Amino acid sequence: MNAIALSSAPSSPTVVSSARTEAGRMQALVYTQYGPPEVVALAEVPKPTPRDHEVLIRVRATTVSTADWRARTLAMPPGFGLMGRLFFGVFGPRKKVLGTELAGEIESIGKAVTRFQVGDWVVAFTDVGFGAHAQYCVMPETGAIVRKPARLSVEQAAAMSFGATTALHFLRKGKIARGDKVLVVGASGAVGSAAVQLARHFGADVTGVCRSANVELVRSLGAHRVIDYTQEDFTQNGETYDIILDATGSAPLSRCERSLKPGGRLLIILSASLAQSIGLAWPAKGSGKKAIAGVASVTAGDMEFLAGIAEAGAFVPVVDCVYPWERAAEAHARVETGRKRGSVVLTLGA
Ligand SMILES: NC(=O)c1ccc[n+]([C@@H]2O[C@H](COP(=O)([O-])OP(=O)(O)OC[C@H]3O[C@@H](n4cnc5c(N)ncnc54)[C@H](OP(=O)(O)O)[C@@H]3O)[C@@H](O)[C@H]2O)c1
Repeated sequence: MNAIALSSAPSSPTVVSSARTEAGRMQALVYTQYGPPEVVALAEVPKPTPRDHEVLIRVRATTVSTADWRARTLAMPPGFGLMGRLFFGVFGPRKKVLGTELAGEIESIGKAVTRFQVGDWVVAFTDVGFGAHAQYCVMPETGAIVRKPARLSVEQAAAMSFGATTALHFLRKGKIARGDKVLVVGASGAVGSAAVQLARHFGADVTGVCRSANVELVRSLGAHRVIDYTQEDFTQNGETYDIILDATGSAPLSRCERSLKPGGRLLIILSASLAQSIGLAWPAKGSGKKAIAGVASVTAGDMEFLAGIAEAGAFVPVVDCVYPWERAAEAHARVETGRKRGSVVLTLGA
């Protein structure tokens, strides 16, 4: 692999003069060891070839998500460390190209593909397959891939999948219904900002929890009420909810059970610890309250649904900032702060 140095200067973008890539090769952001943002560097890797039912996508934009951050650092909630290492690779990263979501153009298709044509603009979610931080990515035509909603910019489209598929999975598990009172903790992040918009779309009465600087953002996403967690503790104000979605690990059942209505559901996107996950199955007896955790799963239908509501203007992915992919280390550093609003996007040049 020919590694190409990344710029580390924070304010002066350096465009890598991409030395000609050999035939059958492409550039990708590669990491071969766990560590700080700088372990990720541009390198040449084999260019994939689509099989009969696959499409080859020329990636135009992607994101650095919290999944990429966890995979790069093995940062896991307490108790999940061993599980993380077994999943991502015991002696080093098993999947060396990160990136779970993308927007791009179909460059070629396998001979049995019927749903897409060369030149189609698409949005795709590679999920735990990763691999989106590359010039090209293959996807099965029946996978989590959908035509790009015209209403979204390429950057917004790249940020359409990770947070929203997670929010959709959990809201459906929690059987969200019109008129439900829903609280979203972590309403400014990728998952939370999508959850606010989706809950609103499903006809819920939505309250978002975020810090002061993000109150206006969360309101603009459609939240009926916003609680600034630096000023108010939602567990102490006497309000109760049908659904509490916690994307931060800061609202374990022990803390927010009283804020759930009888029959209420706590959706645990991020568990504070394994110990808590093990204990979360026991809400107060007879209350009908439920805690729902686990890993989100995604279908092609979910992508169609999200693209549809994006096209209708009911869902606009929030973009925190955009970096050219040569500055991927800065993008990773931004994600690592835990403070991003929505998604950090990487754009790939021509
Ligand atoms: N279970 C699954 O399948 C699944 C899928 C995807 C992601 N996840 C996990 O879900 C978590 C969230 O992901 P993400 O991509 O949305 O993360 P993110 O974009 O980094 O968002 C986290 C947000 O939470 C806010 N926040 C932090 N502490 C808070 C608090 N006490 N109250 C309210 N808001 C708070 C942060 O803003 P401020 O700190 O600025 O307030 C930030 O905007 C990650 O840990 C990720 O690993 C799980």
